[in-house]
Amino acid sequence: MLEGQVGDPSWTHIKAIDKKTGELAAWASWNTLTDAEIRERDEKAVAKKSVDVEKGELGKGEFDFPPGLPMFVQADTDSWLERWTRGQRHVQCKALFTDPLFQGQGMGNALVEHGNRLADAAGLPIFLQASPYGYPIYEKHGFETVQCLDVDLREWAKGARSGDKGFGNYRFRYMVRLPRTLPAS
Ligand SMILES: CC(C)(COP(=O)(O)OP(=O)(O)OC[C@H]1O[C@@H](n2cnc3c(N)ncnc32)[C@H](O)[C@@H]1OP(=O)(O)O)[C@@H](O)C(=O)NCCC(=O)NCCS
Repeated sequence: MLEGQVGDPSWTHIKAIDKKTGELAAWASWNTLTDAEIRERDEKAVAKKSVDVEKGELGKGEFDFPPGLPMFVQADTDSWLERWTRGQRHVQCKALFTDPLFQGQGMGNALVEHGNRLADAAGLPIFLQASPYGYPIYEKHGFETVQCLDVDLREWAKGARSGDKGFGNYRFRYMVRLPRTLPAS
């Protein structure tokens, strides 16, 4: 998953290790697209839009589950990001995970704070797609939900139940945090 990203200055990966065992306890990743990458992405989005207009709006019926659901969600997230960050430098938080064995010990909070410091140092906003588990931490650290994607998992997977966080309505929150400092000139 990290192939091609380690050593790339536009990526930051932080891992938290259990000192006793050396086990990976938590990790987070941020990506700051270069100006050239933003230009390329925006040009592709314009080209894609004209294709989509020709063949009609993409609907979830075009994706199978699995692996169609992640692609459907990714397509929606990409389109949101492109609309909100067209031509603009920004940071994307791409991952935040704590191993269940280590949850509730403050690592999630510490990693989010770390990302905020990185973005503030660069004077850039942070954009991310938050899970139902992650969004309260982001809210606590100054992120605002600006769009949601509700996915009824029963429409995607036979036998899925409603009424819990895994199978029923799953809400992705698209969140933004503005920098607390001005960009360096
Ligand atoms: C979201 C996640 C990263 C939080 O990691 P964490 O290391 O447990 O985070 P923290 O220990 O800093 O706790 C964060 C908050 O969640 C609460 N929390 C953590 N584990 C909890 C649990 N099992 N039950 C209830 N609350 C819990 C903490 O009390 C804390 O609240 P506070 O900041 O108001 O005190 C972790 O749950 C996870 O990896 N979830 C699955 C992947 C995911 O959804 N990632 C987010 C992508 S946006």
